Amino acid sequence: MSTDAPAVYPPSAEFAAQANTRGRELYNRADADRLGFWAEQARRLSWDTDFGDVLDWSDAPFAKWFVGGKLNVAYNCVDRHVEAGNGDRIAIHWVGEPGDSRDITYAQLKDEVSRAANYLAEIGLKPGDRVAIYMPMVPEALVAMLACARLGLTHSVVFGGFSAAALRSRIDDAQARVVITTDGQFRRGKPVPLKANVDEAVDALVDGKAAESVEKVIVVRRCSNDIDWHDRDVWWHDTVGAASPEHTPEAFDSEHPLFLLYTSGTTGKPKGIVHSSGGYLTQASYTHHYLFDHKAGTDVYWCTADIGWVTGHTYIVYGPLSNGATQVVYEGTPNSPTEHRHFEVIEKYGVSIYYIAPTLVRTFMKWGREIPDAHDLSSIRVLGSVGEPINPEAWRWYRDVIGGGTAPIVDTWWQTETGAAMVAPLPGTTACKPGSAMEPVPGISANIVDDDGNPEPRGEQGLLVLDQPWPAMLRGIWGDDERFRETYWSRYEKQGWYFAGDGARYDDDGALWVLGRVDDVMNISGHRISTAEVESALVGHSGVAEAAVVGASDATTGQAIAAFVILREGVDASDPEALIAEMKAHVSKDISPIARPREIIIVPELPKTRSGKIMRRLLRDVAEGRELGDTSTLVDPSVFENIRKQRA
Ligand code: PRX
Repeated sequence: MSTDAPAVYPPSAEFAAQANTRGRELYNRADADRLGFWAEQARRLSWDTDFGDVLDWSDAPFAKWFVGGKLNVAYNCVDRHVEAGNGDRIAIHWVGEPGDSRDITYAQLKDEVSRAANYLAEIGLKPGDRVAIYMPMVPEALVAMLACARLGLTHSVVFGGFSAAALRSRIDDAQARVVITTDGQFRRGKPVPLKANVDEAVDALVDGKAAESVEKVIVVRRCSNDIDWHDRDVWWHDTVGAASPEHTPEAFDSEHPLFLLYTSGTTGKPKGIVHSSGGYLTQASYTHHYLFDHKAGTDVYWCTADIGWVTGHTYIVYGPLSNGATQVVYEGTPNSPTEHRHFEVIEKYGVSIYYIAPTLVRTFMKWGREIPDAHDLSSIRVLGSVGEPINPEAWRWYRDVIGGGTAPIVDTWWQTETGAAMVAPLPGTTACKPGSAMEPVPGISANIVDDDGNPEPRGEQGLLVLDQPWPAMLRGIWGDDERFRETYWSRYEKQGWYFAGDGARYDDDGALWVLGRVDDVMNISGHRISTAEVESALVGHSGVAEAAVVGASDATTGQAIAAFVILREGVDASDPEALIAEMKAHVSKDISPIARPREIIIVPELPKTRSGKIMRRLLRDVAEGRELGDTSTLVDPSVFENIRKQRA
């Protein structure tokens, strides 16, 4: 990094003049009347029944926003744009991995969503029923989500890279009545089975039972690979395809649960985060509009997330579509078939807003700037970043190489639980600092405090808390109110604050820097995985007696998984490399390839405190090759010498 690089990057006068924000006007309005401000944002949507109170916090931490209001989320994302005369506008430029593509207008999207809704209603699904969606990034995945929203069905999207076991536990927890999937998915030009995982998930005997909640599996034909067929299976094209494109949406209460999304916590069991309709859509739509300075009808927006994660929900489906955006949806990986793929797509469609994770920026840096330099990227005017802290070097490279040296970078801090962006600059207003998410978005209130809740002075690291409820906040953990209170609200119970699990600090100028998780949650390429989940997968391998997992820093993926395992008595470790490869494959299969450890170190013992707690901090020191920190509370510090020897 050059030392003469500017410390702050204000928007250009030209950008500011055309921006959706005018200076600090939004902040000022929100500060003057926070709830009035949110009511104004809610009115960007179309409501069937107007709401009364903006917020009911009397049953905290269970919030109600836009009380008594009724709306249909899918109507807001699709029909109203058609009614406004924009039916011919492209909603989705879909790009398939093998090179096929489809352009879908809002009018066509309305027909597709209506057909799917008609079929789901015909098979007897009722508002509040859960539907699992386990699909790659094909248009039908978005259609399926919107059809659920249209009928008041609560969708639970399970990332297509997750294993059958992970899918099953999510199906069971939510008691999903239907699973929507594809026959296969393309991975680097080759079809890989997907429905087979659904079969395995549904038929597996857990406590002696198959997944009894599942009545139907709807299969989209994507790869035409061979699949097994069961009585419960139907083809999407035979059923949804044959249904009527006319469907009248019904309005649902603002608090109606729109979706569940499972995310990792500090235990092995994923949490079903519950999101609402009115509050969620209000903040998704508002933040998409202002944070990306989005202009419907002219911008071409591209968020490269997968719908299996919250970013895909909020910034591919609900945010952009509620704003009538034209967006690119891409099925594949950035290097398929070559490392030019993203830049070819940007060039072809004239992408103007590009929203990715820092890990991808660092990957592009590794591949070399000659790759993006070979393309005309001049259409890009706003860049987004999400999922993990973006290091200043990557920030500058992103702006210079992808953003033509001028595009503002909007670093958005948020979580599955927050539903939408919470801390981020406004591109037409904020003078950004590379690496800082800058300040809470207008209407959001956050603070950085110590263990007792005292605000940290500038420069000091503390814990990030959200000290006021917000519209898109989670409404709970599915079926587990106690865990909801305990996980997020017990730490600052007296104050009634939400504890985010991240460390942060304000710098001397008051810019907010998110420093990463302070709990046992790892962040691998912006994907959230708990140490406990990986540990439990590892001890599920027949050779492993005990395992301890830490997130070690990694130049590309932010963090990478390092595992320390103790073998069971009598395990044949004559070929340790083969054994380690087997364990890695086991984790990959049990959870997902994302959870595959970068390294597994076989050790004779694990460092534990006198109370029996594994000292992860010390393991992290070892995994990152540092001198050991304080080992004084260890039962037997010589344990470390053994671990280090194993690693050497
Ligand atoms: O640690 C923070 C990190 O990702 C966590 C949330 O993960 P997840 O629920 O999977 O949602 C990811 C997409 C919103 C946070 O607790 N994180 C997310 N965005 C940022 C970030 N850390 C620093 N800067 C960000 N912009």
